[in-house]
Parts: sequence; structure tokens; C-alpha cells
Amino acid sequence: MSRTARIELDGKSYEYPVVEGTEHELAIDISKLRAETGYITLDDGYGNTGSCKSAVTYIDGDKGILRYRGIPIEELAEKSTFIEAAYLVIFGHLPTIEERDRFATILMDNAMIDESMKKHFDAFSQSETHPMAITSAMVNLISGYEPDGGNIRTNEDMEAAAAKLMSKVRTIAAAAYKASIGEPIVYPRYDLRYAENFLHMMFTKPYLPYEPTPAVSKALNLFLLLHADHEQNCSTSTVRMVASSQANLFASCSAGVNALSGPRHGGANAAVIEMLEQIRDSDMDVKEYVRRVKDKEDGIKLMGFGHRVYRNFDPRSKILRAAAEDMFKELDVTDPLLDIAQELADTALSDDYFVERKLYPNVDFYSGMILRAMGIPINMFTVMFAIGRMPGWIANWKEIHDDEKNRIYRPRQIYVGPTDQHWIPREER
Ligand code: SDX
Repeated sequence: MSRTARIELDGKSYEYPVVEGTEHELAIDISKLRAETGYITLDDGYGNTGSCKSAVTYIDGDKGILRYRGIPIEELAEKSTFIEAAYLVIFGHLPTIEERDRFATILMDNAMIDESMKKHFDAFSQSETHPMAITSAMVNLISGYEPDGGNIRTNEDMEAAAAKLMSKVRTIAAAAYKASIGEPIVYPRYDLRYAENFLHMMFTKPYLPYEPTPAVSKALNLFLLLHADHEQNCSTSTVRMVASSQANLFASCSAGVNALSGPRHGGANAAVIEMLEQIRDSDMDVKEYVRRVKDKEDGIKLMGFGHRVYRNFDPRSKILRAAAEDMFKELDVTDPLLDIAQELADTALSDDYFVERKLYPNVDFYSGMILRAMGIPINMFTVMFAIGRMPGWIANWKEIHDDEKNRIYRPRQIYVGPTDQHWIPREER
């Protein structure tokens, strides 16, 4: 049954079709609104606006549901690897054995970055450049080393570009870390799988090879899998915006890295640790910190809490909390920050201020603890998020690329600046 929405404007009535998604989400299609009425809609922060139809990820923020291509995140977290989940997110189905092996081969064959790209890292190593800035710059550069500038024409091109980007972003991230500590770049090993190879490139020293434990490899696979996609979040919407101009995959995902770097978004995992360390190192206890947050002192927030979509728990935070506890047990690690985090969560979750505002732990609240336990330095936390989110960015770029009817994104605005002004001679200003 097709439904419509009626708008009464200036004594006239207009009807617009209601669109229903496969999970019964409803939207009013206002594509013809401006042409018919001269009006546009205004929705600061796009909280009520759907920018596209997408078949990649579904979130129910009230029920705490997250599904990649219809499969619950809890099942994937338990049964899948990051690479298998990435293939699902990008290509829409779990890979067959043949598809998995082909994708794994392309990943491995493209783990190296072009030797000439290393010159950039030499320059970075003398600077205080943040690894996120290095990662976005180097991801953008990949297209310069691709045949035909990274243009994608066939399914084979798409599969190759996706695997190359996923493989190289991992090598770039590890190289960015090595540059930041003045150590030589470590080359990938052909015998290691995706997550293990990253850890090897991060932590192997010229004098000491690094062998990741199964617990750390499992935790890193889970961390990356849980970050693979998340509907039209800030960075993914940025990738779609850039992709809509027909910019190549690498340039579009480089823009996603930049959007992710902000503390309100991907930068929150590092900000959570900084917040916990601040509580640990000050004479302030958890209750005092929570009081300051509620009083909005200096605009401080409870980092790792709240979400634009989840108005209940973020299912990823539940999975990561359990993984952090398992990993610490397995590695026989105790981290006072985890105790502070637990106390902070318990305090906030029983406080009306947070409950009324539907503020619950999000993906970033526990992820930092896991990264810390792996020995990942805090300035690399958001880079880890970027590596995990790469499949989602690629999948959203692909949706635009595959849609022959796609149009360049070009939102309108309501102008509120000065009107009817004229140029004034300098001596009269
Ligand atoms: C990610 O979109 C995604 O999917 C993102 C992500 C992904 O996978 O891509 O899930 C990853 O970015 C997770 C979010 C990581 N960010 C943080 O943890 C930073 C802390 N959180 C806040 O900055 C905030 O909660 C946001 C940005 C996440 C959401 O902001 P909203 O929905 O715009 O909330 P709001 O600013 O409208 O706040 C509503 C009220 C306000 O209080 P009042 O004005 O009503 O008194 O809630 C308060 C806010 O002050 N509030 C918080 C708070 N977040 C909101 N108060 C204390 N601590 C917080 N964290």
C-alpha cells in the first residue's frame, strides 16, 4: 500500500511519496519539494535526513541492533574474521572458499607499498605529523601508483582495488608509526594473515622479531570487524560526498580518514584513554569527574559515551567489553584504567542525567583498553579505527560507483548573511 505525506503551504496542498526500507524504516521522498513549492527542508546535522538508500548496514538505535548485509554483528563477531566480514560488507555476500582465497592472495600480493612512497615517510619522520594525517596523505597517493590512476571499470578492477587499499592502508599505518618513532619501516611477511602481519610491521624491531599471541590476534580481528561499517556516520557520509563527484576510490577514502580524525568521531577512542588517565593521575575520583561532566564544566564530555543513533546500548561496546575482560585474563594483564572505566560506566548508567539523555557506552569506550593491552600507542588508536572502517568506506564508494543514476551531492542552504551590500573604497572602510 503506497502511502503519501501531505504538506500544506501558502494555502496549497502537496503530496510526497513515503519510502519504506526492507527493515520497514519510513522516509518522505521530498526530491520534488523545491521544484514544486520553492521551499527546501532544513535539518542541522542531518539528524532527520536520509542522504541515500543503502544495502550495506542496518542499525536500530533503540533496540541496539547492528547488521552487516543483514547478518547480526554478534554472529559475525563470534564466527567470522575481519577479512571475511570485510568481503561481506564490500561485495554483499560471505565469500566462497574460492573468493576468499582469491581475495587473500590479492591482499598478500599488495601488502608492500611502492619503494618511492618511502621517501614521504622519511620526511614525516622529522616532523610531529599525526599518524592520521600521514595515513590520509598516503592513502590518497596510492592512486598515483595504480594503473590508469586507480580507475575502476570491471568487477575484477573493484575486487583488486578493494584488496589493495585494505592491504596497503595497514602497511601505511605501520610505516607511519615507525616513522613517528624514528625506526626503519618493517616489510610485511608473506606467511602472516592480515591482523598478524599488521602487528608484525608495527612491533618487529631490527634486532627482535615480534610474534603475536593468538589472544592478541583474535582481539585485533574482532576490533577491526566491529568497526567495519556503521551506516551514514560522519566519515562514511564524507566518502559518499567525495565519491559523488566521481573522485577515485583512494581520494574518497582519504577524505574519510580525515573526517574520522575528529574527537567527536574516530578520535574518541584516544580521548577515552586520556580521560581515564586524567582521572587516574588527578586527585579527582570518578564521582567528581561525573559531577563536572553533568555541570558541563569547560564543556567536558564523558568520552566514549553517547551516540547520534544508539539511544540504547551500542552492541559493539558490549562485545568489546567482554573481549577486553577475556584478553586481560588470557594475557594476565591488569589495567587500572579498566577498573576506572567500569566504575565510570556503572556510575553514569545509574545516573538520571545520562539515562534521561540516553547516553550509553559506545564503540569507543572499551576499544581503547584493548588497543592499549596490545601495546598500540594512543596516537595510533584512530588509525586502527580507520583500518577497520576501510571496508565500509569502500562499500559505500562502490554503491555510488555502481549506481548509473547517481548524482553529485549538492545540499542547499538557507542564507543568513548580510544583504544588499556594495563595495566601499579602502579609505572609507
Ligand atoms: C563514533 O555515527 C556513528 O555511527 C559514529 C560511530 C561509528 O561507528 O562511525 O559510532 C563512531 O563516532 C562514536 C561516538 C564517539 N564520540 C564520543 O564518544 C564523544 C563523546 N560523545 C559526544 O560527543 C556525543 O554523544 C556525540 C557527538 C557522539 C553525539 O552527539 P549528539 O547526538 O549530537 O548529542 P547532543 O550533542 O545533541 O547532546 C544531547 C545532550 C546534550 O545535553 P543537553 O544540552 O540536553 O543538556 O546530551 C549531552 C549533551 O551535552 N551529551 C553528553 C555527551 N554526549 C551528549 N554529555 C556528556 N557526555 C557525552 N558524551
